[in-house]
Amino acid sequence: MSKDLHDLPFDEGTKAKLKIFSDYIKSWLPVFLASKITSWENINIFDFFAGPGADVTGYNGTPIIIINELSSYFKYFEKKRINLHLYFNEFNQNKFSLLNKKIEQLESNNKFPYKISIDNLDFKEAFEKHYTAMKLDNTANLILLDQSGIKHITPEIFQQIVNLKTTDFLFFISSSTIRRFSELDTIKQYIDVSKEKVEATEYFKTHQLILEYYQSLLPSSRSYYLAPFSIKKGANIYGLIFGSGHVLGIEKFLSACWKADPDRGEANFDIDKENILPNQLSLFTGKVQQPKKVDVFENELRNRILDKRIVTDENIYLFTITMGFLPKHARKVLKFMIKDGKIKKKNFLLGSDIVKASTPKIKLELIENGN
Ligand SMILES: C[S@@+](CC[C@H](N)C(=O)[O-])C[C@H]1O[C@@H](n2cnc3c(N)ncnc32)[C@H](O)[C@@H]1O
Repeated sequence: MSKDLHDLPFDEGTKAKLKIFSDYIKSWLPVFLASKITSWENINIFDFFAGPGADVTGYNGTPIIIINELSSYFKYFEKKRINLHLYFNEFNQNKFSLLNKKIEQLESNNKFPYKISIDNLDFKEAFEKHYTAMKLDNTANLILLDQSGIKHITPEIFQQIVNLKTTDFLFFISSSTIRRFSELDTIKQYIDVSKEKVEATEYFKTHQLILEYYQSLLPSSRSYYLAPFSIKKGANIYGLIFGSGHVLGIEKFLSACWKADPDRGEANFDIDKENILPNQLSLFTGKVQQPKKVDVFENELRNRILDKRIVTDENIYLFTITMGFLPKHARKVLKFMIKDGKIKKKNFLLGSDIVKASTPKIKLELIENGN
């Protein structure tokens, strides 16, 4: 039997996952706690598979990462009335007791301006218990589902989550398990991906296939953004799937992914097997070689601008984010197009504010004969 994750030092894959999570929460907290414009009556952070708080060496797990990150925001609690509630859940009795003790200790040494609750329940029961609180009006939720394996985020749970208002979620999934056992009924009841699709997908891209499966479950009436990050642990492929109903949420998650993977923003390994060395020159162009994925994005954005499928800065922003890229990648394309005399220079806004109805959209102007 394999050893429990918390009986050993966290491995590199687990640390990569925790780093993405901690970078993401760093950018999530200011939006919800420090924003001057928006205020929610209730803010909930749920960690339904919380673990004991650390590995055997004391390396912090998700609940302690959340508590530590919150310490920079205490002044905002004084300034405005914020009802923040942290909900932790852990099914294993021993880990639950360790987490409880740790939190009690932290609470005895600090006066936290928010509430912490800890449950010792099976995930489904804990989720149902708190679903009413998640659904309340004027409530923002962040849901972390750091399961081992694959079976807890069923199509029903996924749909319940994506139907919530102002809710971002992040879940972990063992994608290679699905690949290996996709035809078994015991797997199909949770994730129904056909054997043919699995066989047509390269091993390293398994997690992207799982993302497509969850995309197919999204209700057509709802605009919702999902993004993946693949993690290799030994020979296995795992991954994170992030979801948000707002482009700002997805931009924040993508920033954490590009920080972790500056080449492609999507994996803790060379997912396209391109073996590009830093500053390596291409044999064909003499320029510094960049991943094919970046070339494809740059060409596609340029072509869409030239044939007028993209006509405003809002179009550019949304295309960029949905392709898994950041505004800085789009800015580089625009800069070259301006320099090459293809489009007129203007003050384009390439941030999430551009999607607000009140923000004026700037039209792209092509320069005739700028071929
Ligand atoms: C991948 S670990 C989570 C690690 C944790 N987030 C951390 O950073 O240390 C998954 C956790 O879920 C717990 N677990 C397993 N089955 C569960 C269930 N049915 N409901 C809730 N928790 C469960 C395990 O005991 C384990 O601690």
